[in-house]
Amino acid sequence: PFILTIAGGGSTYTPGIVKSLMVRLADFPLAEIRLYDIDSQRQDTIAPVVEKVIRDHSDSIRFCVTTDPEVAFSGAHFVFAQMRVGQYKMREQDERIPLRHGVVGQETCGPGGLAYGLRTILPMVELIDLVERFAHKDAWIVNYSNPAAIVAEGIRRLRPDARVLNICDMPVAAMRNIAAVLGVKREDITVDYFGLNHFGWFTRVLVEGEDRLPELREHIARYGLLTANAADTDPQHADPSWVKTWRNIKPVMDHFPEFVPNPYLQYYLMPNDIVAHQDPNYTRANEVMDGREKKLFAAAATYKQTGILPDAFHVGVHGAFIVDVACSLAFDLRQRHLVIVENKGAIANLPYDAMVEVPAYITANGPEPVRMGNVPTFHRALLEQQLASEQLLVEATLEGSYEKALQAFTLNRTVPTMQHAKAILDEMIAANREYWPQL
Ligand code: G6P
Ligand code: MN
Repeated sequence: PFILTIAGGGSTYTPGIVKSLMVRLADFPLAEIRLYDIDSQRQDTIAPVVEKVIRDHSDSIRFCVTTDPEVAFSGAHFVFAQMRVGQYKMREQDERIPLRHGVVGQETCGPGGLAYGLRTILPMVELIDLVERFAHKDAWIVNYSNPAAIVAEGIRRLRPDARVLNICDMPVAAMRNIAAVLGVKREDITVDYFGLNHFGWFTRVLVEGEDRLPELREHIARYGLLTANAADTDPQHADPSWVKTWRNIKPVMDHFPEFVPNPYLQYYLMPNDIVAHQDPNYTRANEVMDGREKKLFAAAATYKQTGILPDAFHVGVHGAFIVDVACSLAFDLRQRHLVIVENKGAIANLPYDAMVEVPAYITANGPEPVRMGNVPTFHRALLEQQLASEQLLVEATLEGSYEKALQAFTLNRTVPTMQHAKAILDEMIAANREYWPQL
């Protein structure tokens, strides 16, 4: 049985992910679960909920809650990394500052994602170093810390040999919905997909060897929704604002004759429309703090007082996917999943060293990407621009370069002019004084 550490133990996602682990103990046996965070108060609030989830399933799994990296990582076989540098307070800034300039305010897309990247790259590398120092020599870090594309590029640049698998649940959440549309199970579809994280396209959806992408496109064209019906979405993506996100895929798709886009492309391809429906004084960060976070904290308080744990956290495809990936790494299952990997020719006409999101077989030694061939000129151009923006942001972080940060912001498709880029960047520098390297 494995020792598993969750880094970012105080996350609102932790109870749901631990629940996903508990229902899969037969596949992924655990000796110990450790929670590690730098915010002990937050982690201590959530830990009793997590312990209860564990005890409902097992008396024997050891449980440890710590802010000491040596205690957290010593001998660990797996680390799930879910850090949020600056917490939701800074997510709120990432979303509000661009919106005040009429630019998309989003956690990972646009200036918000770039700002979050500047905060996260160096702490992520510190985490990798701590894991390498204390953990089992074959330990794997399954990393889904955002902004995943930029974090993955930062890791590639600074720790190219680290045993880190970078993942995001957006493709698998879309696959879950696609399966619902087609009336099959998620496990029964095999997709082809190319792009960068939060920036890509499904090109085939095979069910028993038959490509049902055309049927999926017809469904979206007719019902305007990337799921079977509005009620049928994973709990994590079921808020009204998320249902809107699944709907906005229709205009993005309708204008182009091929493929099914990742819903996040709406931020890059129809930013004006998005901004028109966003409120600079109440962004998604506020929805999450008032919704998911409050509900979980209230449940923790109720549990403390009454010993009864209300059902207040999401168990869904996100946790299931992380466990799938961990199983495939642990037992060399070579399962096919969409993950973020160094390109190495998988997308033939993108740079060899780009961090791309494509299908890969997950082996005990890491992901083996599947060749997706050449992508059309339109898609390649969009990808190269986004890639350049992300790479320049990483270089800005490593070199402390204001010029490169400004180039990264200017190249991002959500940003209409260099004047917007500069005004937003300058406000973000002030807001991130505690977190960013000096630019
Ligand atoms: C999806 C993305 C994540 C992102 C999350 C935000 O799951 O893949 O990268 O963090 O959505 O969801 P939220 O409910 O916090 O807005
Ligand atoms: Mn993601």
